[in-house]
Amino acid sequence: MDNQTLTITDNRTNQTYTVPIYRGTIRAMDLRQIKTSPSDFGLMTYDPAFMNTASCQSSVTFLDGDAGILLYRGYPIEQLAEHCTFLEVAYLLLNGELPDADQLTAWNNEIKRHTMIHENVKKFIDGFHHDAHPMGILMSTVAALSTFYSDARNVCDPNVRRKQVVRLVAKMPTLAAYAYRHRLGLPYIYPDPELCYTKNYMNMLWKRTEPKYVANPVLSRALEVLFILHEQNCSTSAMRAVGSSNADPFASAAAAIAALSGPLHGGANEEVLLMLKEIGAKENIPGFIEQVKNGKRKLMGFGHRVYKNYDPRARIIKRVAEEVFEVTGRNPKLDIALELEKIALSDEYFIKRKLYPNVDFYSGIIYQAMGFTPDQFTVLFGIPRTVGWLAQWQEMMRDSDLKIARPRQIYIGESRREFVPLTLRRQREMVHG
Ligand code: ACO
Repeated sequence: MDNQTLTITDNRTNQTYTVPIYRGTIRAMDLRQIKTSPSDFGLMTYDPAFMNTASCQSSVTFLDGDAGILLYRGYPIEQLAEHCTFLEVAYLLLNGELPDADQLTAWNNEIKRHTMIHENVKKFIDGFHHDAHPMGILMSTVAALSTFYSDARNVCDPNVRRKQVVRLVAKMPTLAAYAYRHRLGLPYIYPDPELCYTKNYMNMLWKRTEPKYVANPVLSRALEVLFILHEQNCSTSAMRAVGSSNADPFASAAAAIAALSGPLHGGANEEVLLMLKEIGAKENIPGFIEQVKNGKRKLMGFGHRVYKNYDPRARIIKRVAEEVFEVTGRNPKLDIALELEKIALSDEYFIKRKLYPNVDFYSGIIYQAMGFTPDQFTVLFGIPRTVGWLAQWQEMMRDSDLKIARPRQIYIGESRREFVPLTLRRQREMVHG
């Protein structure tokens, strides 16, 4: 298409400007030339929460929220979930291509070699209160890894970056499992190199006194599929924002974990379970839906910033749920969730706002049936997302457009005023929270 430009008329000055359009976007910096006088700063865009702003160029994931499509490096998520292991998809996300057989073996072995954590980390974990939320423990121990690997700060060296990627991908299940066992007062189980990524994680979580813990293959495959299903979101943006200051990847990943812990993001699947427990029975659903429509409650696990259609991941998860329940028995919360979904999807409030179940709606129900407690759910999101965060971080570090992320603001505070001595100050109503 020719003439990929946008012409803007500033009605304040009657001046016209032409700016280039690149892949459906204009550069915000191209607006800076639009001024009312030479001393004017120039026009900016105002976009709290990045509702309509692309903050980077990325080739990791493609998401069409209206059509409900999610691709990793071009491959449909459904095909990857069907045919791949989690580490195979991790390789794809981090390297851009699916591995061949030799590459996959080497990658699996590399990850296995780095699953151990320094014994001192266990001492930190021991210092946490017995009911500390596992996300808090995970965040802190991931941040602490930067103190063990001082080479990690050399973020401009691609070989150093890759080393930290391997370390973090390998150690996340170990840290997550240790956080879990700490809460139960159980001894920590060392990683087992004979096991695959998910079976090793399950072993570190659930091994008791048996000589060898054997994970149920259906459940370990279900966990693998759940690990594969992920996408630029709040926590990825946190990883990029912190990483843009050249902070090491452990510090940046700790920030991403912090973002993920919020109930509007990864914390939502824990909230879904609490919500389903509160609803308790199908007959209470209409009353709950009324509260949601009156703005008193949110239907957790519904709605998404980008997906304005059925989240493709939710569809896969719904299928996995059936497979898991064949093994574990049916989680009665599934029936409440299915009924809730049926009512919500036929209700004008949800239809008008294009609110569909997201990845969190069913994942918590499955995790609970598999034996995870709700406070573990967000951790289960954090482990696989680490791969996505690191893939985006690596891409960002190679990007010639990289600058420290420093969003502008529209200042709406007091204009310049003179200092008032303490004795002359009269009490004013405080407006700052
Ligand atoms: N329940 C009820 N109403 C909702 C919900 C919901 N879950 N989500 C959005 N809405 C309503 C809003 O109130 C708003 O209504 P209005 O136009 O009458 O004011 C409208 O739908 C648009 O919603 P926004 O909040 O503007 O959408 P936004 O893109 O900012 O929020 C979000 C997306 C945070 C995911 C939101 O849908 C939400 O809070 N959902 C529940 C939490 C959740 O499930 N989060 C997990 C997301 S997936 C993930 O992080 C992995």
